[in-house]
Amino acid sequence: MIYRAPTCAGCRIGVAALVVEATITLTVDGEERTATVDTRVTLLDLLREHLAQASAKKGCDHGQCGSCTVLLNGRRVTTCLAFAVQHDGAEITTAAGVGSAEAPHPVQRAFLDHDGFQCGYCTPGQICSAVGMLAELEAGWPSHVTTDVASAPARTREEIRERMSGNLCRCGAYVNIVAAIEQAAER
Ligand code: FES
Ligand code: FES
Repeated sequence: MIYRAPTCAGCRIGVAALVVEATITLTVDGEERTATVDTRVTLLDLLREHLAQASAKKGCDHGQCGSCTVLLNGRRVTTCLAFAVQHDGAEITTAAGVGSAEAPHPVQRAFLDHDGFQCGYCTPGQICSAVGMLAELEAGWPSHVTTDVASAPARTREEIRERMSGNLCRCGAYVNIVAAIEQAAER
């Protein structure tokens, strides 16, 4: 850990606050990456600004749009709300890592088949969220609209909509996104 004590030149008063840095190592899309960052840096800024991994997008930066979603140790998270230092040693999968151009993930294939995007800005987050959401459904996790929480939730359109409700699309491609996820779920 590195401690730096900056000085405020404007008022010529020593700044009391300390900047604390930490060196962390993560696996991003199968590749081990190391960076030394301010402990206040978010996982999203670590990916985009320090590791030049721009698949996850910054939309609201407040946990409200879902465009920054990645899979963190297999579970979907909004990276703008996660401190990077909390996840030293974690395995991150972005939309760029769930499949490839030659071998797309079934969710990526389905988004292409159904035109599940227009400008594409929200799409990496939608892809990661859909992959994580289908795993949650498969594992039997209930959602807000699950009527019988004692049984495995059905893969209904209502369940998909509810579970994807944290991922906004300014282009309004929702109908095609849901159709794409239904197709991917059938594979
Ligand atoms: S940028 Fe993270 S939820 Fe919007
Ligand atoms: S495709 Fe444009 S914001 Fe979703």
